[in-house]
Amino acid sequence: MAQSSSTRRSWLRFLTLGLAAIDCVSAASAKSPKKWPYQTFRSVDYHPPELKVTRNANVTGLDANSTGYLFITPTGADAADQGPIIISDHDSELIWQGPTGTSFGFQAHTLEGRPVISYWTGTAFQDPRGFGYGVIKVLNQSYEQIHEVSLPRVTEDGAFYSGDNMTYSSYIDIHENFFTDRGTVLVTATNVTKADLTSVGGPQEGWLRDSLFYEIDIKTNKVVYRWSSFEHRDEIPIDQSVETLHGEGSQPDDAYNYFHMNAVSLVGNDSYLVSSRYYCTIFLINAKDGSVIWRLQGKNGGDFKLGPDAGFCYQHNARLVNARFIGQGSERIRLHMHDNANSYYQNGTTPTSGLLLELNLKTKEANTIKRLRNPNDLIYAISQGSYQPLRNGHVVVDHGEVPKIEEFDPSGRWVKTVQFAANSSSYRGFRQEWVGKPNTAPSLAACSTGNSTNLYMSWNGATETASWAIYSGEHQKELQYVKSVQKTGFETSATVTAPASGFVQVEARGRQGRRGKRSATLSVLGLPSC
Ligand SMILES: *[C@@H]1O[C@H](CO)[C@@H](O)[C@H](O)[C@H]1NC(C)=O
Ligand SMILES: *[C@@H]1O[C@H](CO)[C@@H](O)[C@H](O)[C@H]1NC(C)=O
Ligand SMILES: *[C@@H]1O[C@H](CO)[C@@H](O)[C@H](O)[C@H]1NC(C)=O
Ligand SMILES: *[C@@H]1O[C@H](CO)[C@@H](O)[C@H](O)[C@H]1NC(C)=O
Ligand SMILES: *[C@@H]1O[C@H](CO)[C@@H](O)[C@H](O)[C@H]1NC(C)=O
Ligand SMILES: *[C@@H]1O[C@H](CO)[C@@H](O)[C@H](O)[C@H]1NC(C)=O
Ligand SMILES: *[C@@H]1O[C@H](CO)[C@@H](O)[C@H](O)[C@H]1NC(C)=O
Ligand SMILES: *[C@@H]1O[C@H](CO)[C@@H](O)[C@H](O)[C@H]1NC(C)=O
Ligand SMILES: *[C@@H]1O[C@H](CO)[C@@H](O)[C@H](O)[C@H]1NC(C)=O
Repeated sequence: MAQSSSTRRSWLRFLTLGLAAIDCVSAASAKSPKKWPYQTFRSVDYHPPELKVTRNANVTGLDANSTGYLFITPTGADAADQGPIIISDHDSELIWQGPTGTSFGFQAHTLEGRPVISYWTGTAFQDPRGFGYGVIKVLNQSYEQIHEVSLPRVTEDGAFYSGDNMTYSSYIDIHENFFTDRGTVLVTATNVTKADLTSVGGPQEGWLRDSLFYEIDIKTNKVVYRWSSFEHRDEIPIDQSVETLHGEGSQPDDAYNYFHMNAVSLVGNDSYLVSSRYYCTIFLINAKDGSVIWRLQGKNGGDFKLGPDAGFCYQHNARLVNARFIGQGSERIRLHMHDNANSYYQNGTTPTSGLLLELNLKTKEANTIKRLRNPNDLIYAISQGSYQPLRNGHVVVDHGEVPKIEEFDPSGRWVKTVQFAANSSSYRGFRQEWVGKPNTAPSLAACSTGNSTNLYMSWNGATETASWAIYSGEHQKELQYVKSVQKTGFETSATVTAPASGFVQVEARGRQGRRGKRSATLSVLGLPSC
């Protein structure tokens, strides 16, 4: 019974997605059946994945379990629901399911001293295109939207051109969502422009997809900085792209995707670290004039001499360690990234890894500190991914297009792998601590077994619930406390003796019995049978 109703639900969702899909990512997902097991609930219509956790039995004690929840955006064939989710890798417990839709870069941040979450949502085009047009949503601890950051089509620096005869309501690209500590967010954008492509064997009157980044004030949505890679082609020539034309460049809707910026962050107060997937390069950009201060190229070093095993390519999520404090005096700095080493066109020879490098800015050497991969499960991730250092010295590596999140201990030893699909992706994936305090009411569903009533209760996003108090009574306004049950997961069930008539209601209780919100009251008359 339960099984057939959940099957029907997923079939219905399948139809809805198929009809509503307007972008490539969700359109693709509607075509094949879900192969990966997912959870269903009675109180809400969510379908988060079951997580498959593989552990290194040699790692025990505190090192086995870091604190925090996983922040991921399952996207693709196996994702029963697409969108941002917070989920615990202990028992696959769902913490929060966000709005359904294509989303990228879901993460918790601090904004003006308060915890917030943010993610990109909009229309995305799949690899090898790999770009999109959308907005950054910023939600507070109650999961209510407090800001929406957007880029209009027409800006002070000209209009965006998408090359496909479409206009979009906002032109923020999928790739970046970096919160600075000065109330701004760094985002990427793309713009189709005419270009002479003869240096790369293309037409003189060709088309390329410029990669830009913007720094935008979160509260006012005002652009405070803009940088375009194509406008700096004197310093960053087109023919230094590792990505060849692959037939692109003759039509505006198939513009040469030569740069593909996928990460940008603020360094100190006046420079930006920019990662280009297709130059296999990380650039430090001077904010004053947009010039290149240095470049680290993963194949030939660029301005650096690459030490043993320090090479990389098609990298994602490049960041400097302690970038806030890096000033002109810093001589040795550390940089980490997700080194895909694979792309849509080049795949299968070098496995993907998490990479931590030390750059000596004086001697211009780049040396490997850590190369993180699980020798028993080599991964070849042709797109996406992230690298996150945790406070306990562990590192979380999300493999993007390969739906696995790995964790390594401070010595670089593999600790565990969390898999959330066979064929889906999460652009980035982070382990973060989070306290959620929804303003919504808890959800309650009930069914009747004849002489008893089964209750199913959940509260999307609430992290502080420890138990549930159950109330019932003849009159909706005079409900009596019946009993309390411990919270057992995202959804908790309980059985109460069925009153012949009347109402039931549940209340979330925090630790020490602190009273939280109550669900709506449910009439026990006419409940479906269990
Ligand atoms: C655990 O330790 C044993 C004994 O040293 C070793 O053979 C095995 O490969 C280790 N397992 C992992 C996953 O590292
Ligand atoms: C780590 O978490 C797993 C799964 O919840 C649990 O079985 C295990 O006992 C925990 N290990 C430690 C050392 O806490
Ligand atoms: C994965 O899903 C995509 C659609 O999103 C499909 O094109 C592809 O064939 C699938 N791959 C496998 C190995 O099932
Ligand atoms: C979140 O924002 C909403 C709307 O502004 C507000 O009512 C709510 O109190 C906020 N929640 C928190 C935890 O700040
Ligand atoms: C996009 O490219 C066109 C053509 O080069 C240019 O006129 C326009 O200013 C660019 N838009 C932005 C936002 O840079
Ligand atoms: C856009 O419009 C032009 C002119 O009508 C047409 O030639 C071109 O094929 C269109 N492109 C797309 C992607 O529809
Ligand atoms: C950045 O600016 C802030 C505020 O003006 C200042 O306190 C800080 O020292 C500056 N940091 C660097 C690295 O220059
Ligand atoms: C190429 O990449 C895909 C992941 O997209 C992977 O499944 C496949 O095994 C890779 N091919 C090789 C030869 O490793
Ligand atoms: C409920 O009714 C059934 C059948 O009448 C009986 O066997 C069962 O003991 C009853 N359960 C309770 C909790 O009263």
